[in-house]
Amino acid sequence: MLPHPTLSARYASPEAKPAFVDGLFNRGAAQYDKVVNWGFLGTGASYRRRILLQHGLIAGDHLLDVACGTGLVAVEAAKILHTAKHITCLDPSAGMLAVARTKLTAHFVQGRAEAMPLADNAYDFLTMGYALRHVTSLDGTFREFHRVLKPGGKLLILEVTKPTGRCAAFFFRLWFGLVYPWLTRLFTRSDEARDMMLYYWETMDACVPPATVLCALETAGLIAVRRDVALGLFSEYSAIKADPLRL
Ligand SMILES: C[S@@+](CC[C@H](N)C(=O)[O-])C[C@H]1O[C@@H](n2cnc3c(N)ncnc32)[C@H](O)[C@@H]1O
Repeated sequence: MLPHPTLSARYASPEAKPAFVDGLFNRGAAQYDKVVNWGFLGTGASYRRRILLQHGLIAGDHLLDVACGTGLVAVEAAKILHTAKHITCLDPSAGMLAVARTKLTAHFVQGRAEAMPLADNAYDFLTMGYALRHVTSLDGTFREFHRVLKPGGKLLILEVTKPTGRCAAFFFRLWFGLVYPWLTRLFTRSDEARDMMLYYWETMDACVPPATVLCALETAGLIAVRRDVALGLFSEYSAIKADPLRL
């Protein structure tokens, strides 16, 4: 199952999507932190840390941060774990990984969520921040998440989701579809950064509804699947890999 239909104005076929997305993030990597920081009013770091704590990340956990990008989730996780030694950061974009490597001494892996070159049953906690829309298959990705988590391991996926109310949807579209990309171009003078934020909007607009994501998580064999929502747009999907010894 695709997270959104093929965006043919951007790439010609589903097969062409990974190369398009990699190019977009490679070109936008240098501007990513700056743009995300002011676009979310400087709340990104504290929000990521709070959510990791709320969802049960604790010192000693082995964490896999899928789609780590420039390391915004992993950096906050390292503060909770008091080390980055037990953090693995995975991302297909060499540009994004290069920025992340300057921030923490974690284990970095270039790869995709749909086929991770990582061992089975290896992680206590798996995170994916704002990247679900970029995978080529929800089912394939969630099967991989289930495979690499230890029994009893926790999954947390962060997303921005288009609100359902008419008025909220209007302002959401205005900000993400128009104002944010325009301000991005103005402040960074970078067409690449503007394109990255425009695509951000296009994928949010076209994304499957939360119920489809929840259903795909359950189909992959995960349990305690739920979605919490902050401010009507920040989705926190969480789930657990069942531990047969504890059932
Ligand atoms: C919007 S950034 C999110 C970065 C970071 N997680 C955060 O919280 O800011 C999306 C990231 O997803 C990565 N990505 C794209 N396709 C992916 C895939 N198939 N598997 C894993 N990561 C992917 C991109 O390279 C990019 O670094």
